[in-house]
Amino acid sequence: MKAAIFYGPNQPLKIEDVPKPTAGLGEIIVKVSACGVCHTDLHYIDSGVPTFKKPPMILGHEASGIVDEIGEGVTQFKGGERVLLPAVLSCGHCKFCRTGRENICDNMVMFGNNIDGSYAEYVKAPAKDTFLLPKEIPLEEGAIIADAITTPYHAVINRGNVKPGDKVVVFGCGGVGLNVVQIASTIGAYCIAVDILDQKLEYAKTLGAAEVLNPTKLDRIDKEVRKLTNGGADIAFEVIGNPHTMELAFACLRTGGKLVVMGYSDKNMNLNLGRTMYREMGIVGSLGCRPVDYPRVIELARVGKIKVKELVTRKFPLEGINTAFDLLRKGEGIRSVVLP
Ligand code: APR
Repeated sequence: MKAAIFYGPNQPLKIEDVPKPTAGLGEIIVKVSACGVCHTDLHYIDSGVPTFKKPPMILGHEASGIVDEIGEGVTQFKGGERVLLPAVLSCGHCKFCRTGRENICDNMVMFGNNIDGSYAEYVKAPAKDTFLLPKEIPLEEGAIIADAITTPYHAVINRGNVKPGDKVVVFGCGGVGLNVVQIASTIGAYCIAVDILDQKLEYAKTLGAAEVLNPTKLDRIDKEVRKLTNGGADIAFEVIGNPHTMELAFACLRTGGKLVVMGYSDKNMNLNLGRTMYREMGIVGSLGCRPVDYPRVIELARVGKIKVKELVTRKFPLEGINTAFDLLRKGEGIRSVVLP
């Protein structure tokens, strides 16, 4: 089969012929329809964040497809069914899995990180972790549910605990941040979107942002947010991965507010612990999404409460994957998918 192979940082992926995987016990082979192009891949390619599986390997963790082959013991799927693969697989038996926190599983396995992913014609997946994709959700665009939509869902609902009427500020309106805006707005929060690119702010408006702010045009974003929210946001989301914007997002909060860290950075942020204590501030991280939330997200997409089709702004053949990464580096569009 054809696959885009990652040989290590600072080099483009190479399209090569590799053996098609075969399904073992409890596994299925999925013919990949689409795989979303995510910033996480750029951490491996541009920033040298190591993958758990040693390269050469296949990246790609946001995939939809058609069941192509069924392994021994699989009874819940038939060949030809449309499916969504979760970005991450959990073990089901560690203390986190047993207490409903599968997204921080001790033994988590991520597609395109611990095991081969979906920048390929076929991918192998455990049947127990795979979801049926309803016919109302288009296969190509539906792929991005697997990370760009489920990750924000978990952050907004489970980590931010956003409620209708809450005032929310979102730093970073990329593929992930825009869906924080979309989901928070959909459940009735007043949402302020922040990004340095006006185009991203335009997208944020179409996805429900009540206000948009561009830090390149304003001196003090935190002051502006305080003004708009009458004292500070209840919940701030940082979806960039930059210690400076983490500090800024924290500065936008009211007393008792909470910062949800979604962006990845290996650097420290400055934090006044006195303010954190005296004002009962909260800071939580948010990672991925629990499998138990996927059916809810899929249903919200099926009935159109969450927009999916509108989020895919470019489609590339597998051979165009490095161009898709270039677009992501430049911050163009919302989400690209490759169609292997
Ligand atoms: N202030 C405001 N916005 C900024 C700033 C800044 N200083 N710097 C960058 N941005 C905006 C970019 O313009 C872009 O729209 O942040 C957005 C980042 O989006 P993407 O590059 O598309 O990244 P995305 O896939 O959304 O992931 C964001 O979350 O899951 C993590 O690893 C991921 O750290 C990454 C983050």
